[in-house]
Amino acid sequence: MFLRRGLLTVLALGLEVACAAKSSAEELQGIYALVKRRTPAHANAFSFALVEGESDAFTISDARNGIHVECTTVSACARGYYTYLTQHGGVDIWWTGSRLNELPSHLPKVGQPVEGQAIVPYRYHFNTVTFDYTAAFWDFSQWELELDWLALRGVNLPLAWVGYEYILIETFREVGLSDADIADFLSGPAFQAWNRFGNIQGSWGGELPMDWVNDQFALQKRLIKRMVELGMTPVLPSFTGFVPRALSTLYPNASIVTGSQWSGFPSSLTNDSFLEPSDPLFAALQKSFISKQQAAYGSNVSHIYTLDQYNENDPFSGDPAYLRNVTAGTFASLRDADPDAVWLMQGWLFFSSESFWTDERIEAYLGGVPGNDSMIILDLYSEAAPQWNRTKSYYGKQWVWCELHDYGGNMGFEGNLGELTHDPLAALHSPGSSMKGVGLAMEGQEGNEIVYDILLDQAWSSTPLNVSSYVDSWVARRYPVKPLPSAAAEAWRILSTTVYNNQDPSTQATIKSIYELAPALTGLTNRTGHHPTAIPYDTDTSILPALKALLEAKAQHPALAAVPEFAYDVVDVARQLLTNRFVDLYTVLVDAYNASDATADSVKAAGRPLLNLLCDLDALLYTNEHFLLSNWIADARKWSHGSKTYGAYLEYNARNQITLWGPDGEINDYASKAWAGLVGTYYKPRWETFVDYLVETKKKGEVYNSTLVTSTMLAIGEKWDNGTWGAGEGQWWGVRGNTWEMAEHVLQTWA
Ligand SMILES: *[C@@H]1O[C@H](CO)[C@@H](O)[C@H](O)[C@H]1NC(C)=O
Ligand SMILES: *[C@@H]1O[C@H](CO)[C@@H](O)[C@H](O)[C@H]1NC(C)=O
Ligand SMILES: *[C@@H]1O[C@H](CO)[C@@H](O)[C@H](O)[C@H]1NC(C)=O
Ligand SMILES: *[C@@H]1O[C@H](CO)[C@@H](O)[C@H](O)[C@H]1NC(C)=O
Ligand SMILES: *[C@@H]1O[C@H](CO)[C@@H](O)[C@H](O)[C@H]1NC(C)=O
Ligand SMILES: *[C@@H]1O[C@H](CO)[C@@H](O)[C@H](O)[C@H]1NC(C)=O
Ligand SMILES: *[C@@H]1O[C@H](CO)[C@@H](O)[C@H](O)[C@H]1NC(C)=O
Ligand SMILES: *[C@@H]1O[C@H](CO)[C@@H](O)[C@H](O)[C@H]1NC(C)=O
Ligand SMILES: *[C@@H]1O[C@H](CO)[C@@H](O)[C@H](O)[C@H]1NC(C)=O
Ligand SMILES: *[C@@H]1O[C@H](CO)[C@@H](O)[C@H](O)[C@H]1NC(C)=O
Ligand SMILES: *[C@@H]1O[C@H](CO)[C@@H](O)[C@H](O)[C@H]1NC(C)=O
Repeated sequence: MFLRRGLLTVLALGLEVACAAKSSAEELQGIYALVKRRTPAHANAFSFALVEGESDAFTISDARNGIHVECTTVSACARGYYTYLTQHGGVDIWWTGSRLNELPSHLPKVGQPVEGQAIVPYRYHFNTVTFDYTAAFWDFSQWELELDWLALRGVNLPLAWVGYEYILIETFREVGLSDADIADFLSGPAFQAWNRFGNIQGSWGGELPMDWVNDQFALQKRLIKRMVELGMTPVLPSFTGFVPRALSTLYPNASIVTGSQWSGFPSSLTNDSFLEPSDPLFAALQKSFISKQQAAYGSNVSHIYTLDQYNENDPFSGDPAYLRNVTAGTFASLRDADPDAVWLMQGWLFFSSESFWTDERIEAYLGGVPGNDSMIILDLYSEAAPQWNRTKSYYGKQWVWCELHDYGGNMGFEGNLGELTHDPLAALHSPGSSMKGVGLAMEGQEGNEIVYDILLDQAWSSTPLNVSSYVDSWVARRYPVKPLPSAAAEAWRILSTTVYNNQDPSTQATIKSIYELAPALTGLTNRTGHHPTAIPYDTDTSILPALKALLEAKAQHPALAAVPEFAYDVVDVARQLLTNRFVDLYTVLVDAYNASDATADSVKAAGRPLLNLLCDLDALLYTNEHFLLSNWIADARKWSHGSKTYGAYLEYNARNQITLWGPDGEINDYASKAWAGLVGTYYKPRWETFVDYLVETKKKGEVYNSTLVTSTMLAIGEKWDNGTWGAGEGQWWGVRGNTWEMAEHVLQTWA
């Protein structure tokens, strides 16, 4: 039991009461609103009381008219409520939607009060790039589901990157930059994260419209308010140092460095100008930016700022004195603008540019910032490539154990549940550890929901969660039919011990589907590292029996068909089966082509099954509302204010990100997706073209020309990116076909 907060405040602080502090009732308004939103039939059954306590903790108990939650913070209140809903109510909230309103009408009793406590003060969420790969076109209703999902799981430190450009533009205008200078710098709606990172500058496909900037700013104001209501501290943007080129003309004496080169982009689109933090102009811009931001969102909503200067972009100099100077100047500017500022940064660079970032340089860079509580470093890829262990726990600075897991919103299955339950605790308890948080830093939120759920749940358990019992209760909530057919539990037992038990760090990320890559004779299969295509499990003893078990479960209990998450999972598992079978068919095609007795006919015959499989895949995906390309495009277009040109511009951004990613395929297929419509109108035509080409070379006795194949595929991409939905392309917007028939067909044809 905890003391009531008010009482302890008086005991400990005497008469001191901060005038600005909110009353408990005010602080709890957001939680009561959450209860009303998600469990409206029980809106009056839950009561909350804030109590004093050292860490984020809660106690749930039975009350006369329902359930009472005592909690030390608003975030802990939300987690307490969620713990009741999941552990006693048997319901949950998913990326596919909230099922919390399916709580039994008579609320189950708690019995012996249940306590919970976070193992770390920070529960973090988002990668800088999730704002593009997943949320680029989200509206408030999509954000609302996301923020509730986060709050309920106890996340209290979300990145809040939406609408950055509005305040940045105001700041740039103030120092005399013209709108044309600024437009020359900003990137399109689907690419803003990398502009903010200083990887790219400028646009392709058209300049960023002010309508976009204004709409995103309006959205951000609502998001910040909601985050605060839900007990979260938003991590706010700050001035990073990346500036329009014209600033150096306007301020010829300012220290501005250039020369960066990112991912094959032409220098007109990269080579960003970086205003050195040692320059007084940097501090002036920082102060201007932060004061405008405080005026817009409130001055006390957060003192934690996101600021990344060298993401995939090495510093101008490797001299430790220079690096120390950069961070010293940067941090001084933050503290000058906000005396309580804390600097949060993604630690990806220490992994991705490991050869540049020697221990000595990291120590110098972090060492420029005085104190240990003044920074929070996201150890971005802790599950496969932790950096905290080579940096003496970031030399004492606060850091967060993050799961990266997903690149570019790719959708292949992968995970290691055992590691996610053990490694954060081991890191927390390692000697001299300065770990202060656990978080999710996926590039895209796509599928594999269990690997994210389990980590956020582990953040509230001081002992490793028992994976097998965790999976059993997770699936019982996901498919809330009574009784749960044993085959449904069996399907997840199979997946959790195979697909989600990947011990190999070289494939620890979503496994990319090779049909989503530009066709080629070599280089597609068995990739490891940044974008693995090697499949680290045996399909015949994992995906295949899991799909069979799911369909058997539906035969045992037909009501499962009406559970949206069940239908989603059946499509997803069948998708993975087809994906993996494609690799086998592709291998057959290459072998047929390379055979000494290959003929045009033998190559054609070997190519046909690949194309048939892609037809089936497209049809399968079309049966579920969550696997549609049209969602992505419609979400983009809905910001167009009814303007045809603006709509086409938004659609180009949406299409280009998931295909060419750059005007000329600079990071082609990085953010590929298994979406109906994309498979049928893009991946399949590419493979058709490829097979036709292989057949042609055999007919004509020519040798395979990889340069020609690459340029042909890029041309297909450029044409496709220019398309607009429905413009004579015979595409469908919505769901069509039947999931169960398609899943049976997949099993019969491709098992
Ligand atoms: C730039 O520095 C030079 C040399 O110190 C000085 O003469 C000049 O006035 C400065 N220009 C501006 C715009 O501050
Ligand atoms: C990079 O930008 C600077 C300043 O705008 C320019 O002088 C330089 O030529 C650019 N580098 C390349 C390779 O284009
Ligand atoms: C912000 O918080 C500080 C310290 O808690 C307080 O002094 C200040 O008055 C607050 N400002 C506003 C606008 O509430
Ligand atoms: C960084 O270096 C600049 C130029 O050498 C110097 O003027 C400045 O005082 C240094 N800043 C810090 C914080 O060390
Ligand atoms: C840090 O941990 C990872 C994963 O366990 C390991 O591969 C790596 O060698 C460790 N690095 C150091 C310097 O201990
Ligand atoms: C920061 O942490 C390191 C490592 O634990 C310690 O040596 C150092 O004294 C700490 N610095 C401060 C200012 O507390
Ligand atoms: C995990 O829970 C299962 C029951 O679901 C039990 O059989 C097993 O012994 C538990 N494992 C551990 C390590 O406690
Ligand atoms: C992938 O690599 C494994 C082991 O190195 C090999 O057995 C397999 O044939 C390769 N598969 C493909 C499709 O290249
Ligand atoms: C097939 O032939 C291509 C081109 O000659 C070659 O690069 C590739 O390694 C061969 N692949 C196999 C699997 O034999
Ligand atoms: C391969 O195709 C490219 C692009 O069409 C062409 O320039 C090149 O000459 C071709 N190479 C051979 C060996 O035919
Ligand atoms: C795509 O549209 C752009 C801009 O309108 C145009 O420059 C380009 O030629 C088009 N490309 C294709 C392949 O249609």
